[in-house]
Amino acid sequence: MAADRILIVDDEPEMIENCRRVLASTGYQCFSTTDSREALRMLERDRPDLLLTDLRMPEMDGMEILRQARETDPHLPVIMLTGHATVETAVAAVKAGAFDYLSKPFSIDQLQLTVARALTKRRLEQENLNLREQLQGTYGFENILGRSLVLQQVLELVRKAARSDANVLILGESGTGKELIARAIHANSPRCSGPFVPVDCASLPETLLESELFGHEKGAFTGAATTKRGLIETAHGGTLFLDELGEFPMSLQAKLLRTLQERQIRHVGGTRQIDLDVRVVSATNRDLRLQLANGQFREDLYYRVNVIDVAVPPLRERSGDVELLATTFLRKFRGGRGGFEPEAMMALVSYQWPGNVRELQNVVERACALAEGERITLAELPSRLWSSPAPTLAHPPETETSTGLTLKEAKGRWIGQLEAAYVSELLKRESGNVSEAARKAGVDRKTIHRLLNKHGLR
Ligand SMILES: Nc1ncnc2c1ncn2[C@@H]1O[C@H](COP(=O)(O)OP(=O)(O)OP(=O)(O)O)[C@@H](O)[C@H]1O
Ligand SMILES: [Mg+2]
Repeated sequence: MAADRILIVDDEPEMIENCRRVLASTGYQCFSTTDSREALRMLERDRPDLLLTDLRMPEMDGMEILRQARETDPHLPVIMLTGHATVETAVAAVKAGAFDYLSKPFSIDQLQLTVARALTKRRLEQENLNLREQLQGTYGFENILGRSLVLQQVLELVRKAARSDANVLILGESGTGKELIARAIHANSPRCSGPFVPVDCASLPETLLESELFGHEKGAFTGAATTKRGLIETAHGGTLFLDELGEFPMSLQAKLLRTLQERQIRHVGGTRQIDLDVRVVSATNRDLRLQLANGQFREDLYYRVNVIDVAVPPLRERSGDVELLATTFLRKFRGGRGGFEPEAMMALVSYQWPGNVRELQNVVERACALAEGERITLAELPSRLWSSPAPTLAHPPETETSTGLTLKEAKGRWIGQLEAAYVSELLKRESGNVSEAARKAGVDRKTIHRLLNKHGLR
């Protein structure tokens, strides 16, 4: 690791020399100036890890250097050297953001200790910052794609929720991105440097779930050879993600509630209470209110985990997002190449997506595997996408399903559905006679064939 670099600013060359000798012998790389204006230039140019500056100097005082230094690098630790200065001015400096002060004369030990503390703090802050950037890069809001108004409104709420420490319940159909949102909440919360611990409440049998969640003491039950921490405990200082909360067994709900309420956890077979600091984010595709009414979910637990509820809209209610999602997935699978033929995109946009974004992702992946050319055509999409019954003319596409579309997209979709419905009804009436259908429609046979192709009608 490169040596930490320290800038020393003082109008007395002797002071500089003393500090430099001590710090250089400890392995720091020092540079210095007696000129405060030069100091500002060096801050910009040399980007030191620490600034040691005199508080009173003729040209510009240390307070001004401090102010400007923090503007250049808000994380730069600054230690003020005060001679004749009173404690008050030194305290004012610390209030203005200095890390600490040393009143002259100070001992070698004092100097070394203060410098070491300041640099450690900077390193920790830097690591935290890196970690946060990493987390936000992988699980940030940028990864949640979609420009539709409905999704943007949800994300706006999620952003606010993330900053608070309130428990969040995410509701939505399967594949709508609930887990993605849960991770973004954690990554953008004050707990981001703590753990994110997902628990799938549906995948474990009841008996196992209890010891997995709450941990157990050695000998608590047959097979408990050692004491084990539970998942809830592992989330200490971070976020516990209870996925499929609707499947959480009734028999453990009271225990979970008590744990969250008392902020203390007790291992299975244990008596010791362990302090706990977790934030709970949960998700479910079940109708929890219905479960409350049926006595399948405890009301008190429901209100504990549901301080803020976030309803993620199904993909069919934001079909305006389909194109962006599909092209992004395509680029991911194809390494940036290719696109969709208009008919294929039309089919994607008109489909109802019962499996939501996950289904769309699978469809695009499958198409990429099947496609021979650069562009994805209707033929590479599963038949359910183009053989679904077209809306009849008596029932045009509902406007509410168009939410989130631009006018152009909405028009395209309406017209597409109208074309498909018109042609299929007409052909049915004409018993599949294309020439007759073309005559009735006032177009040529080629147009009918083109429309049949375009809409995947047979
Ligand atoms: N808005 C989105 N932008 C990009 N990818 C998304 C989006 N929504 C979902 N996905 C992707 O779709 C897949 C399913 O998302 P996720 O696992 O978060 O859904 P879920 O709501 O938790 O589903 P389930 O209820 O089935 O567990 C993931 O691969 C996720 O990355
Ligand atoms: Mg999920």
